[in-house]
Amino acid sequence: MKLIQTIQELRTELDALRKEGKTIGLVPTMGALHAGHASLVKRAVAENDVVVVSDFVNPTQFNDKNDLLKYPRTLDADCKLLEECGASFVFAPSVEEIYPEPDTRQFSYAPLDTVMEGKFRPGHFNGVCQIVSKLFLIVEPTRAYFGEKDFQQLAIIREMVRKYPFNLEIVGCPIVREADGLALSSRNARLSDEQRIQALQISKTLFASVEYAQTHTLAETKAFVESAISTAEGLRLEYFEIVDGNSLQTVCDWKDSSYIVGCITVFCGEVRLIDNIKYKE
Ligand code: PAJ
Repeated sequence: MKLIQTIQELRTELDALRKEGKTIGLVPTMGALHAGHASLVKRAVAENDVVVVSDFVNPTQFNDKNDLLKYPRTLDADCKLLEECGASFVFAPSVEEIYPEPDTRQFSYAPLDTVMEGKFRPGHFNGVCQIVSKLFLIVEPTRAYFGEKDFQQLAIIREMVRKYPFNLEIVGCPIVREADGLALSSRNARLSDEQRIQALQISKTLFASVEYAQTHTLAETKAFVESAISTAEGLRLEYFEIVDGNSLQTVCDWKDSSYIVGCITVFCGEVRLIDNIKYKE
């Protein structure tokens, strides 16, 4: 495995491999890697000849300066994990390498990017599309891997690939959870022991709501989740929406769609956690 910091060096390596007819898998990450990221990398390794993992905390997608400053950075440990997963290249550029000048491109995929995370984190998905489109242009991957943990991000990237258009396959990968159910996240490292216990209510409530949904209306199920989180100690609900899994627009009745997902964002202290659950697929 090779650690690369410049676009030029990565291009030279990949051009040579592409000439040999090798397929290239790309896994974009912001580092602070855990088993959730590893599952994407392992899948990419299984499905491609060469795998590039980008490890770059992208400043343009942070609408909260504090969140950017506190984002964990663990490149040495990341490289160890990626080596074990069988990655070929870790691309860890500087901010100047990626943004030698401010990126003024505007990506707008309404109504996908105006709801949920798009509503509460203005500019976030524009920043995500800026970095992911640059990575696609630099790496020219055969396939790129994204987690369903960031359900809305995956839907928006699929839309960007369709509209841009990029010639690659987007592969969505299931959420990896701790044994007790908490969705793995780089932000979990910022939870205190007490908060770690409190955060467990998020996945517990989502799992319970799937059971509850069997015998209740969609509105009742939404209220069930909202009330459970709002009354749980240490948690503050930002939003919970039950949406169509493709359009991300809210649905009112279980009969309205054949693909229904509940998306939630909760603050546990200062730490913003997201999760989602499928009701119908
Ligand atoms: P990051 O949060 O580091 O996540 C990188 C990838 O890992 C994303 O596709 C995310 O959905 C996936 N992932 C994170 N936790 C996961 C889990 N528990 N199970 C499965 N997959 C998980 O998402 C980003 O970075 C950035 O927005 C990025 C796309 C890299 C652009 O900067």
